[in-house]
Amino acid sequence: MAKNIDIYRINNSFRRFSILLCMLTGLFLAGCTSASENTLQPPAQTAAEAATEAATAAAATEAAEAAAAIAETFDFEKRTVLLNSGYEMPIIGLGTWTLSDDQAENSVYHALKSGMRLIDTARYYGNETGVGRGLQKAIDEGLVTREDVFITSKIFGGSYETAGGIIDDALKDLNVDYIDLMLIHQPGADDEGVYHAMEDAVKDGRLRSIGISNYYTAEQVDTVLSFAEITPAVIQNENHLFYQNTELQEYVRQYGIVIESWYPFGGRGHTSEHFGNEVIRELAEKYGKSPTQIILRWHLQAGFIAIPGSSNPEHIAENYDIFGFELTDGEMQRIRELDQQARYENW
Ligand SMILES: NC(=O)c1ccc[n+]([C@@H]2O[C@H](COP(=O)([O-])OP(=O)(O)OC[C@H]3O[C@@H](n4cnc5c(N)ncnc54)[C@H](OP(=O)(O)O)[C@@H]3O)[C@@H](O)[C@H]2O)c1
Repeated sequence: MAKNIDIYRINNSFRRFSILLCMLTGLFLAGCTSASENTLQPPAQTAAEAATEAATAAAATEAAEAAAAIAETFDFEKRTVLLNSGYEMPIIGLGTWTLSDDQAENSVYHALKSGMRLIDTARYYGNETGVGRGLQKAIDEGLVTREDVFITSKIFGGSYETAGGIIDDALKDLNVDYIDLMLIHQPGADDEGVYHAMEDAVKDGRLRSIGISNYYTAEQVDTVLSFAEITPAVIQNENHLFYQNTELQEYVRQYGIVIESWYPFGGRGHTSEHFGNEVIRELAEKYGKSPTQIILRWHLQAGFIAIPGSSNPEHIAENYDIFGFELTDGEMQRIRELDQQARYENW
């Protein structure tokens, strides 16, 4: 993996140098052309326009290439990504925010029955017991084994002294003897203490991978890296058509950190803005898929793990049925251009 990162850096530096060279050449040629045709257009304006166009095109190409390289780490056959912790994580799963214990039990059971192998919950959601019951039901029916399923939970608040106990409570409520991924739910007063408690739990086998959630800037990530003994494997953030974490994704790639999207459809109350989007509808028609399937396919091809929330078994099955088609580079770019850097939440 370290070798790949080095090659990426070299490629990246070379690409940046090439882009700069192209821009300077463009600027020079535009200046020459303008000078010989200065009766048609003022030279300064033409040169400036050419430079802006070249810069925009170069930036778009660079971003698209970076996203494609990240998505290449996703194994679409196995439907997993290899985390920097050495564990494989499914790239599409079920979110359980707002689900009651009973709803969570039902949704988890149907998700596992549909083939999904990733389940996202949190201490804060108050439904880990239901998630555990849904998992157990699927195990009892022989649909899955514990090892087949990847469970994520999150610690909200706490300190070094309390976080160990919070992890034990999560294990008890989920009725499992390890949790695949534990995240700090959002930045808090003692992130360092909580993170070290999670590292202890990795060392004694209660957790397999650890990460963070709701850290949106390179500076925030750097702070965690400054005290982390174990590099976070995943950052789970608000991430959707209108708020794409592309810059952060590119930054954390050097550490092998994967971005996971919460609110892949904008969250309850906002889904119609996403499902009704013109570009999404057009692509849904082209592929004979639903808007949700187009959106989820975009998340995955862009290198984002997605955990759509649902209490509806039919929706859950639909959300997993996204492996029989592929968006083109041009279509990925059109969706990328929907980004407005507009979040719905402020935590
Ligand atoms: N780390 C954090 O701070 C954080 C914050 C928020 C969420 N999350 C996680 O991210 C997950 C996803 O976010 P979310 O659940 O809030 O929002 P979401 O996945 O963007 O949207 C959920 C909404 O989409 C609908 N839906 C799902 N599949 C559908 C389909 N195939 N067709 C039509 N409608 C469909 C659901 O309705 P139905 O129930 O009717 O299907 C629900 O109204 C959460 O469940 C949670 O696990 C994490």
